[in-house]
Amino acid sequence: MKRLLSVLLALAMMLLCVSAVAETATATTGTATVKGFGGDITVKVTLEGAEIRSVEITGDGETEGIGKKILAEWPLAFLEYNGIVDTYSGATFAGITREAVIAATRQALANAGVNPDDYMREMEKEETTDLVIDTDIAIIGAGGAGMTAALTASDAGKSVLVLESQPAVGGNSVKSTGGMNAARTVYQDANEFGESAGIEKTLKAAEGYADNEAITALAAKVKEQWEAWQANPQGYFDSVELFALDTLIGGKGLNDPELVNTLVNNSAAAIDYLDSIGIHLNNVAAFGGASVKRIHRPVNEEGKVVSVGAYTIPLLERACQGRDNLALLTDVTATRLLTDESGAVCGVEAFGKAGNRITVNAKAVILATGGFGANLDMVVQYKPELAGFMTTNAAGIQGQGILMATEIGAATVDMEQIQIHPTVQAETASLITEGLRGDGAVLINANGERFIDEVGTRDVVSAAEIAQPGSFSWLVVDQKMADASSVIQGYISRGLMLQGDSYEALAEKTGIPAEAFAATMEKWNGYVADKNDPDFGRTSFAAPLDTAPFYAVKVTAGIHHTMGGLKIDSGAHVLNAEGKVIPGLFAAGEVTGGVHGGNRLGGNAVADFVVFGRIAGQQAADSIK
Ligand code: FUM
Repeated sequence: MKRLLSVLLALAMMLLCVSAVAETATATTGTATVKGFGGDITVKVTLEGAEIRSVEITGDGETEGIGKKILAEWPLAFLEYNGIVDTYSGATFAGITREAVIAATRQALANAGVNPDDYMREMEKEETTDLVIDTDIAIIGAGGAGMTAALTASDAGKSVLVLESQPAVGGNSVKSTGGMNAARTVYQDANEFGESAGIEKTLKAAEGYADNEAITALAAKVKEQWEAWQANPQGYFDSVELFALDTLIGGKGLNDPELVNTLVNNSAAAIDYLDSIGIHLNNVAAFGGASVKRIHRPVNEEGKVVSVGAYTIPLLERACQGRDNLALLTDVTATRLLTDESGAVCGVEAFGKAGNRITVNAKAVILATGGFGANLDMVVQYKPELAGFMTTNAAGIQGQGILMATEIGAATVDMEQIQIHPTVQAETASLITEGLRGDGAVLINANGERFIDEVGTRDVVSAAEIAQPGSFSWLVVDQKMADASSVIQGYISRGLMLQGDSYEALAEKTGIPAEAFAATMEKWNGYVADKNDPDFGRTSFAAPLDTAPFYAVKVTAGIHHTMGGLKIDSGAHVLNAEGKVIPGLFAAGEVTGGVHGGNRLGGNAVADFVVFGRIAGQQAADSIK
């Protein structure tokens, strides 16, 4: 509260000071620009004597969540302390933004004619009061699953407290770029159907799972539906059974069929729910392992595709704000689940950033802490061959929920199933979305050749890429694709993509043999025209890559998703080793296992967090009478 008041006071001071500056003759200003995470960060400071009077900061390219939060809060802390205080020194991510902001501010001060060293400040120690908070439902983790669960439980009239260990909400969800899979949605129906090859391919693949009852039954049903549709084609062809079949085949048949059914059967309603809270995923596209166009993506006012996480998470956060019965605390790390004498979960022990203990007494607890993809020790413990791999995960994704729940007897499933994603930028570990391949991009190896159906599942594409010379490839797009996607434009402005005015010029920049590359691209454009890929059997085609300039980003495989986690039932109850519900404990999102089996399809993580987040929120609320 003290901090909030001082921030408000500083804000008021800033407004007053801005007008004061206009009237004074002694004000000096300094401006500096430094490269941040996603483009330039510019800081302008105004001083009167030694006193800082105003500060302005711009940096449109910084990430949603922590990057934007640093930019928003920086001027307030700067005014409050009359200098530079490194409020985010504890944050292990958004380091580039933080360092760029400090560097730009120091340079701006120097340009204003003062010594920046005189303006470096120590942060005041916060009060460390222990707290006890009573709530109906405590939710650990404020990513997509946690916030969706919170909104649902709040709508059900329960008091909800969300604890987030990081300085900003979002977890892995805010980094998610692709979109959300859902079957039989209004947005699919707005598309013309023309993708029969993908369905035939899936039905063929299902034949390889003759001993998997769920896959065999689904394949028979889909075949029936597909034949009926072909006899009388009406609307867009997709079905929850085909979605389930894709998810199970993508997961190598290891998924829990009950959880998959829950995912697919609630997916269209989840799209409608998002619409109802102002989150519109209305662009439908192709993604790896999906027989038809099923991934739902947001677009901006210009109709360009934007990142699903950067779009959705701030809107979920906003929806959580201003509710009487919902509070969200950041920088609070849960360490232990509290249980009563019957073994039921009855709260959470947590600690604030300053080390103060926060005891939350709750009638139900929902774990939404994400997986363990940023905890490389844990990754290697379960899959030693991933030692040394990069990760696309947010720093807070440390497996905390899994550890806390197993301590009180929760069972886990599929912990060794860890996904690597084939298009992670080789130097920065930035995720380059699979959506680019769905929209028409190709992967080219160091010899200038394609080597795989680019829209295959991630496990297959990653394995093929690792087998290429140097274990990397170049993802290639053209200007036409860049014009349609603000995601690609972001990659270009962040300097992740090389550019060439012709195939040969791009080849020269990348070091690929020019002749081989140009021949591959010409051949590929012919395959697109024929809608036939005799080399690798790709069935998803967009437009030819024939509009200069061309762009390439160097990509390699990186740790992306941990499919294993807490064992749950379709009501999001956490189960113990005997398969019994642990009373009072629910889980949703990447902290759980079983939904995705041996390999998650792109677009199913967002579907998972919305569907199971809603179920967890509702079930937890219903459990409190
Ligand atoms: O490639 C991607 O955009 C990732 C999407 C996902 O993991 O669902």
